[in-house]
Amino acid sequence: MVLKAELHCHVEGAASPRLVEKKAAKYGADVSAIIQGGKFVWHDFTSFLHAYDQASMLFRTEEDYADLAEDYLLSLSRQDAIYSELFISTDHAISAGLDPRAYIEGLAEGMRRAKAATGIEGRLIATGLRHKGPEAVMAAARYIVENPHPLVTGFGMAGDERMHNPKDFSAAFELARDAGLGITVHAGELSGWKSVSDALDALKPSRIGHGVRAIENPDLVRRLADEQILLECCPGSNIALSVYGDFAAHPFANLARAGVPMTLNSDDPPYFHTDLAQEYEIAATYFGYDDEMLKAVTHTALKAAFVDEATRTALL
Ligand code: ADE
Ligand code: ZN
Repeated sequence: MVLKAELHCHVEGAASPRLVEKKAAKYGADVSAIIQGGKFVWHDFTSFLHAYDQASMLFRTEEDYADLAEDYLLSLSRQDAIYSELFISTDHAISAGLDPRAYIEGLAEGMRRAKAATGIEGRLIATGLRHKGPEAVMAAARYIVENPHPLVTGFGMAGDERMHNPKDFSAAFELARDAGLGITVHAGELSGWKSVSDALDALKPSRIGHGVRAIENPDLVRRLADEQILLECCPGSNIALSVYGDFAAHPFANLARAGVPMTLNSDDPPYFHTDLAQEYEIAATYFGYDDEMLKAVTHTALKAAFVDEATRTALL
């Protein structure tokens, strides 16, 4: 059995259509525009983000988020995962009318329940949304720095990478880094290699969300290997969003061979018709990974996790 660890999954993006429909029934909302035949409906990154935003509007209370975190972590545990980092977004909570404190407390309660039932360990990474601009990302960073929670151990940025420049967000990331939070940023998914090097220069992350398009520049691949910048790779997401045409064209194996620390993640599993176990299967089927190599991927994730050393040692 291959134990697994996940560093890159958005909690709002982990809500199953079944759970979203349950919340829609609770609030008397119509979700037929975003869920059809038990599946989320979208056709490109912009419409994916729209469906994702609409679904997240149905998580309105602390208990809704406790449900979501518990539901997802229990499903991860059934896939033999022992550790999970979830991206959270105070912007989504606020849009749904939920106080960020209740949002985080609800998530923490769901994590406690899942841990009590299965032993799965988890941490949260607060994110700002790039398409909302530098002031919104600074507000997200400021909130989490001024309201620290022991389970929130990282800060990152998701959203539309095609908008704004990484250096516009330097102050927000500096604030988060100075507060001791681990730093990751989405780059090199929708945009090419320069987006990755600009993010590295301006925001100094130890990990990059996706980052796969670094493959377009050999000097940058060498830099990632030299500086041991980990890529939170999400192959199923990349195919679903047409970053690559098929798994044969995906650069995972070439990046790993070049010495870049690579991990496997599900990103927004029901939207991309995947889960963590399927991502490990993809690596076995298309990238030639045997069980020993898959175990090494889990080890790489745990070594780079935004978690205290005692917990890391217990997991490794
Ligand atoms: N937010 C949720 N999923 C995302 C993705 N794949 N890229 C950027 N932002 C996201
Ligand atoms: Zn992501």
